[in-house]
Amino acid sequence: MKHLIDPTDLSVQEISEIIAVAEDIIANREQYSDVCRGKKLATLFYEPSTRTRLSFTAAMMELGGNVLGFADAKSSSVSKGETVQDTVRVINCFADIIAMRHKVEGAPLAATEVSSTPIINAGDGSHSHPTQTMTDLLTIKRELGTLNNLTIGLVGDLKYGRTVHSLIKAMTRYENTKFVLISPPELALPDYIKRDVFDRLGVEYRESNDIESVIGDVDILYMTRVQQERFTDLDEYERVKDCFVLDAAKMRLAKERMAVLHPLPRVNEIAIDVDTDPRAAYFRQVENGKFVRMALILKLLQWQKEDGKEFQQHGEAMSCKCPNPLCISNLEPVRPRFENVDGVVRCVYCESQADFL
Ligand code: CP
Repeated sequence: MKHLIDPTDLSVQEISEIIAVAEDIIANREQYSDVCRGKKLATLFYEPSTRTRLSFTAAMMELGGNVLGFADAKSSSVSKGETVQDTVRVINCFADIIAMRHKVEGAPLAATEVSSTPIINAGDGSHSHPTQTMTDLLTIKRELGTLNNLTIGLVGDLKYGRTVHSLIKAMTRYENTKFVLISPPELALPDYIKRDVFDRLGVEYRESNDIESVIGDVDILYMTRVQQERFTDLDEYERVKDCFVLDAAKMRLAKERMAVLHPLPRVNEIAIDVDTDPRAAYFRQVENGKFVRMALILKLLQWQKEDGKEFQQHGEAMSCKCPNPLCISNLEPVRPRFENVDGVVRCVYCESQADFL
């Protein structure tokens, strides 16, 4: 069984295969219109979504398969207290592959422990969003022709932004990637990512307080929304929400060959006068999301039949509690598991550092 919970569940070779299939789908769409006939995708969305859920739906429909599921957990037996793992055991009776979005971090990983069909993480809390990352990689490849030797500016909510965390993990596996981090101090990238990813891998990064002084250096400007739903203090949200706005005046300082990406939805962070700039790639990025999800569904169903494509469950079950109150291991009957990576002990579900050990 192969699942996609984190971008690093795929090797660089597997990512290249998925991107190649997506590019072939774009070039030869009619050849793929029937390849998933008789297969069913379940979309289990416990948190709101437009792009991810509908692009998964469109992807399976364009492959000739069918889709079932829920867009609001309140309309399902989750509202009666059914756990993630029991829900997945039930959906296994109805579907061949499952895409799950959940506000609780680690919920899709907990699902893999009981599932007889592939699980795709469609976003879990502030933790990870690997299919957005696959979308971003395909978009970068199509806009700039390469995934190597790129300087990527990450703007906005780098603390809670799961798309940012997943993109960093993915891009550090390509040659000579550099990052510029542009955020208010309240929304800075978590120290553990700077330490465990950048410092451990020797990836160059710098931080900036404004877009203007760095926009001329970047090949990709990755804008993000400040996510109101992740704040417990709404005054703090009001203080930081409009910190960094990209507009046409700032775009005049950018390289001629660069691309602006945004996982969307946007609120105020990209002015509409940027939309007509040929370097504004965020709506092309949305369509790439459908193509890459088509490729991912195909490859996961194909890999399910192959030997040697096992999903690696990490860590060791322990009786200690994860320090993150939003972790699945604290909210549902899921046994806490931890792993030691280079001397740092982390919860396998949400990656929170477990200082108590
Ligand atoms: N990019 C993204 O995840 O969008 P949705 O929340 O609309 O799915």
